[in-house]
Amino acid sequence: MIDIHSHLIPNVDDGSSGLESSIKYLKFMEEVGVETLVLTPHFIRDSLDYFEDIDRNFRILSDTCKKENIKIKLVLAKEVLLYPTILEDIEKYKLNIPGTNYILVETHFQKFPEFFDETMYSLLKNGYRPILAHPERYVSIMENIELAEELMHRNILLQINSGSFFGLYGRKVRRTVNKLLKKGYCHFIAGDFHAHADNYSLHNAVALIENNIDVFSADLLSKVNPAKMLNNEDIQIFYVDKIIPKDNLISKIKRIFNI
Ligand SMILES: [Fe+2]
Repeated sequence: MIDIHSHLIPNVDDGSSGLESSIKYLKFMEEVGVETLVLTPHFIRDSLDYFEDIDRNFRILSDTCKKENIKIKLVLAKEVLLYPTILEDIEKYKLNIPGTNYILVETHFQKFPEFFDETMYSLLKNGYRPILAHPERYVSIMENIELAEELMHRNILLQINSGSFFGLYGRKVRRTVNKLLKKGYCHFIAGDFHAHADNYSLHNAVALIENNIDVFSADLLSKVNPAKMLNNEDIQIFYVDKIIPKDNLISKIKRIFNI
């Protein structure tokens, strides 16, 4: 698996409290099958006090991984909070995923801000390919799932969080992520792991998708699309008309009795 969203660099943002904790979780991730981990500390315009520590602490983490014989490939990127002048900062601070035009972005959890459309458009116009982190967590999408499809029509890719399937962010988010998955309104699944949460779940969510949908979808979201993204290749935005969940007992009964 390739996990494209995580907060595990020691002592920056709200991810990991220290090197020891980061190493502990990296060992666990390796055990459960993560081969590449993209580290995405928050880039929030108004709180840049730790920004200079990111590169240094990333190097310390990489060196320690080598000493500890951890084989996961680490890639350093950012999770960028959208705001109207983000484009300038993307160029200034090199906030795109290295070697690619892709950029992992997030926005406010309540209603999408007024500048959302225009800011996304400015990124697209300048050749960036935005990946919206955890669409299922935004009220705007919870209330109107078809907004996700609209975003896809505008060439915006969607990355769902594994924890959403297990109720980490509540029942509404869980319901929303299942709808997104079944409609094919997602392109990546990632852990968005914060060490303090102590519940890494990417492998479990991928197994759940394999069981409830199929291996193709699980692989597409956790391996195929992430690998294409890291190679800066195009990703197919509309890949199915509709994902059909496997039959369960209730749907079988409904079909047999034609109800
Ligand atoms: Fe995140």
